[in-house]
Amino acid sequence: MRILGIETSCDETGVAVYDNKNGLIANKLYSQVKLHSNYGGVVPELASRNHVIKTIPLIKEALSQSSLCITDIDGVAYTAGPGLVGALMVGATIGRAIAYACKVPAIAINHIEGHLLTIMMEDNPPSFPFVALLVSGGNTQLIAVKNIGKYFLLGKSIDDSAGEVLDKTAKLLGLGYPGGKILSYIARRGITGRYKFPRPMINRQGLDFSFSGLKTSVANTIRSVSVDDEQNCADIARAFEDAVVDTLSIKCCRALDNTGFNRLVIAGGVSANRTLRIRLTDIMRNIGKKVFFSRSDFCTDNGAMIAYAGMLRLQLTKKNNFYNDLEVMVRPRWSLEEDLSAVFYKN
Ligand code: KG4
Repeated sequence: MRILGIETSCDETGVAVYDNKNGLIANKLYSQVKLHSNYGGVVPELASRNHVIKTIPLIKEALSQSSLCITDIDGVAYTAGPGLVGALMVGATIGRAIAYACKVPAIAINHIEGHLLTIMMEDNPPSFPFVALLVSGGNTQLIAVKNIGKYFLLGKSIDDSAGEVLDKTAKLLGLGYPGGKILSYIARRGITGRYKFPRPMINRQGLDFSFSGLKTSVANTIRSVSVDDEQNCADIARAFEDAVVDTLSIKCCRALDNTGFNRLVIAGGVSANRTLRIRLTDIMRNIGKKVFFSRSDFCTDNGAMIAYAGMLRLQLTKKNNFYNDLEVMVRPRWSLEEDLSAVFYKN
């Protein structure tokens, strides 16, 4: 069974083909980072227009990489939400049109589910159940994953996501956009302890996060010192990254305690962060639990995770229960807990 996956929820066009026997046989990505960097953030209209230009050529490339033609595909999975509505519409329209023409199932995928299941494509994947920390530009969530399709939200950010705050701080430090990765790189040269920032909400019960206070605290510091001085900039980056990583780690431990699960999965763009990976690996070793993370390329948005989630969904649901008509439906907001199977799949 071969599934074509299409991801267009934000600023990456991702296309991949997943084969249930041979694994990932094609994976193509076009990042719009350069396009948006002039504006210091994603411009939704530009994102949609660019997906229109890139999606079909990438599908052709992915098919050629896997030596397949479009009629060899058994299903088309596309990101149906959450994300930017115009951007989602591009992938959904193209995906459903191909499925309709080829008379194969069109499989609507929740982008967050795609991130959570990415780890299952790696060697030695975790078994269920596990706690997942989804930490990206758009989301910071802790989720109890009991099985495929059995997700329970444990906590989420009540304001900014961790990735958003990393990117905003990087911008204030003059590191460009999106600066999460470069900020982390600069932080390696920073001296620990020269600055200290709050670890928000760790003394409050529960598993929600809040990063806006931390953002303000760092912004005030940046305004009061010279960040043209490279060492200053690195020291602030160090202290800020430590505050984010500590906050995330404390809540991950609490989620494992509350659920009694022994496995933690980190997913989403910020899970590529080296300090977060090292810190969680150490902590989990000390408490006799295990953390799992994907290769860096699969942390950020990609088509492989959508193709893979599509294959799992197709294996779980009867083939005839998927719509392959031309009605295009997307969900800019779509909680993992929200049961939309009646909307996207026939009962
Ligand atoms: O999952 P993702 O591609 O999608 C969005 O939600 O857009 O995540 C992107 C986020 C950005 O905030 C980016 O700065 C951050 O992931 N990121 C990192 C690293 N690599 C990407 N943050 C910290 N350290 C990294 N190595």
